Amino acid sequence: MFETLKQINQKPEVFAVDTAPRLWDDEHTSRQMLHFHLDDSVDISSRNSAFIEASVEWMTGHFNIRSGTRICDFGCGPGLYTTRFAERSRSVTGIDFSRRSIQYAKETAARKKLDVDYQQQNYLEYRSDRRFDLITMIMCDFCALSPLQRQTLLNVFHRHLDTGGSLLLDLFSEAAFNDREEGAAYEHRLLSGFWSAADYYGFVNTFKYDREKVVLDKYTIVEAFRTFEVYNWLQYFSFGVLKSEFEKAGFIITERFADIAGKPYDSESHEFAVVARKASEGDSVRG
Ligand SMILES: C[S@@+](CC[C@H](N)C(=O)[O-])C[C@H]1O[C@@H](n2cnc3c(N)ncnc32)[C@H](O)[C@@H]1O
Repeated sequence: MFETLKQINQKPEVFAVDTAPRLWDDEHTSRQMLHFHLDDSVDISSRNSAFIEASVEWMTGHFNIRSGTRICDFGCGPGLYTTRFAERSRSVTGIDFSRRSIQYAKETAARKKLDVDYQQQNYLEYRSDRRFDLITMIMCDFCALSPLQRQTLLNVFHRHLDTGGSLLLDLFSEAAFNDREEGAAYEHRLLSGFWSAADYYGFVNTFKYDREKVVLDKYTIVEAFRTFEVYNWLQYFSFGVLKSEFEKAGFIITERFADIAGKPYDSESHEFAVVARKASEGDSVRG
């Protein structure tokens, strides 16, 4: 018991373990996630539909989305943005490794008679001859990736974004990091049965990595006959750190906002959004 508790409360090396597929594609948790995506009363795995509507309206004007605009949404989930994009453009791609979300997105497209190219796969491994005018990654998913995964993803973006195209993504800020606190708690059926259909005790340990500006919510789920862990990493960014990470990958940040609906940038806000384009020769920043 003491050794088990010691292990549960042990702080791992930053980004040492990747359990993202378990969180998003497990039979039980993916059902719970889909419920959160579609629940308009909580902004958990997706934002509410009023925000999404306003955001897509803003993007339509800002990026001049029209019938021929080639758009790709990385981590599209159940297609809440791709469906709306496809009502404006006939060239929309959505990538997500959650079988359940892609299934839901495909059913929505079929019902609405929309043509969307859905790819159920790991977006870090996306390879295609296609080039896009707009690439999006929404709901701060970039922050869940390790530095190496972000580098891989930025290379994927770079390969698939056309010259003159735009990349839009949102991120957690350093102000949000400062408001996080370390803690440890446990509860019978933590998060009301979110983690398993079986009876369980759920432990959640929150660790802060001050130097790296990373927070880990480590979940340990103990059932009668199995124990498993889920590691939710979040990287928080200052604008300067993000800018230099983007520049190393060959991108120039051209605009920043408080959110992906075009709200003016605010350094105190917990989230911010950036628009980037591929650096051209004259910019000479690719490291
Ligand atoms: C926070 S949700 C956001 C979903 C959507 N962007 C939205 O705002 O409604 C993150 C999504 O990214 C997907 N995802 C996470 N890591 C992924 C990966 N490596 N490859 C493909 N999809 C991934 C998850 O399955 C999930 O649907």
